Amino acid sequence: MPPSAPILAPDTEGISRAVDALRAGQRIGLPTETVYGLAADGLNPLAAAGIFRDKGRPLVDPLILHVAPGADLHGIAQIPAPAQRLMAAFWPGPLTLILPRGPRVPELVSAGLPSVALRCPQHPVAQAVLRAFGGPLAAPSANRFGRISPTTPQAVHSELGDRIALILDGGPCAVGLESTIVDARSDDPEALRLLRHGAILGTQIRQALGLSGDLPTSRPVQVVAPGQLDAHYAPRTPLWRARGPLEEISAWPEGAAALYLTPPPSPPRAELWSVLAPDGTLHTAAASLFHQMRVLDEAQPRLILCAPIPAEGLGHAINDRLLRASSGEVEWGLEGLQWRPRVVSGPPPQD
Ligand code: TXA
Ligand code: MG
Repeated sequence: MPPSAPILAPDTEGISRAVDALRAGQRIGLPTETVYGLAADGLNPLAAAGIFRDKGRPLVDPLILHVAPGADLHGIAQIPAPAQRLMAAFWPGPLTLILPRGPRVPELVSAGLPSVALRCPQHPVAQAVLRAFGGPLAAPSANRFGRISPTTPQAVHSELGDRIALILDGGPCAVGLESTIVDARSDDPEALRLLRHGAILGTQIRQALGLSGDLPTSRPVQVVAPGQLDAHYAPRTPLWRARGPLEEISAWPEGAAALYLTPPPSPPRAELWSVLAPDGTLHTAAASLFHQMRVLDEAQPRLILCAPIPAEGLGHAINDRLLRASSGEVEWGLEGLQWRPRVVSGPPPQD
C-alpha cells in the first residue's frame, strides 16, 4: 500500500514540516478560504510537474500562483492599474487575477501562456505557509481532474492521500467555492472580464473600479480551463437540477437522493437527503455545497435531485458549479417527470 499523507495540525511543527516538504519539491494539501489546494513550489517546474501528475490534469491547463499579503511580485507579473485597484480592494481574499506573466514564472505553471493567474488567500494557515516558505506556491484545487473540489482535509485525503507529503488541517473552508477569476490584463478598466463566478461578484469588481453594472463574462479562446469546461466539479452519481420545489414532485423517482436548499416543509420522500443551508443563506449553501455533494455521492444513490437555487448574488456561483456537475434538468407536469439532458458543448450558459 502506498504511504498515506498525515493530516497535521497547523502549529509551528506542522507549518515547518509543510515548508520542508515544499522545499524538497513535494506537494502538500493546503487549506485556503475557498477550497483546499494541492500546493507546490510555484517557481520550480519539477515540483509543478508533480501537481499535473497527481491530479491527472492536462498540461495545457495553467495553475494559479498563490502569494502572501504584500509579497514582492517583481518578475512574477505586471500589474496594470485596474488590477492594482482590485488587489487593494479584495486581497487577501477569494479573487484570482489573470495578469501579464513575468519572466520568473516557469512556462509549465502558466501552460506556456503569456499570462499568469495570481491569488492572495485569506486563510491564516495558507498565509503562514506562504510567509514561511518565502515564495509563490502553485496550487490548484486538491481534487483529481474533473472531480469535486475538497473543502475539508478528509476530502483531500480521499482524493490524493496516497500521492502527497502531508495535509494541513485548516478546518472546513469558509467560502466553499473556488475563487472568482477576473481577466485583468488590460489598462482599460472597461476591458476586464469575468472568467469564473465566485464569492466576489462581478458587480463588486465593477464598483471597485468606479464603474456601474455587472462585469461582462468571457471565455478564453486559447485555453481550455477545467473551471470553464462544461462538465466539471462532477460527482460520480448523476446530478439533476429540479426546475421547481422538490416537494411538488408527486412520483418520487426510485432511489433518488434529494439536495434541498432549505429544510423541506414536510418529511421528504427521498430516503437519502440533505440540506445546503439550514439557516437559509446562500453563504451557507456555498460553503456546504461540495461537502454535501461528496457525502451524497459516497452513499451511491441512483441519482441526486437538487432543488433550484435563486439566480442572485452568490447564487450565480452556486448555479455555475451545479450546472457543470449536472446531467440535466428535471421538470414535471401532467405527464409526470420530464428529463432534459444537458448538451455538453458550446459556451456554458451564464446565469
Ligand atoms: O479558489 C481557488 O482558486 C482554488 C484555491 C486552491 O486557491 N484554486 C483553484 O485552482 O480553483 P484550479 O487550478 O482548480 O482552477 C484555476 C483555474 C483553472 O480553470 C485554470 O485554467 C485557470 O484558473 N487559469 C489559470 N491560469 C490561467 C491563465 N493564465 N489564463 C486563464 N485561465 C487561467
Ligand atoms: Mg479545480
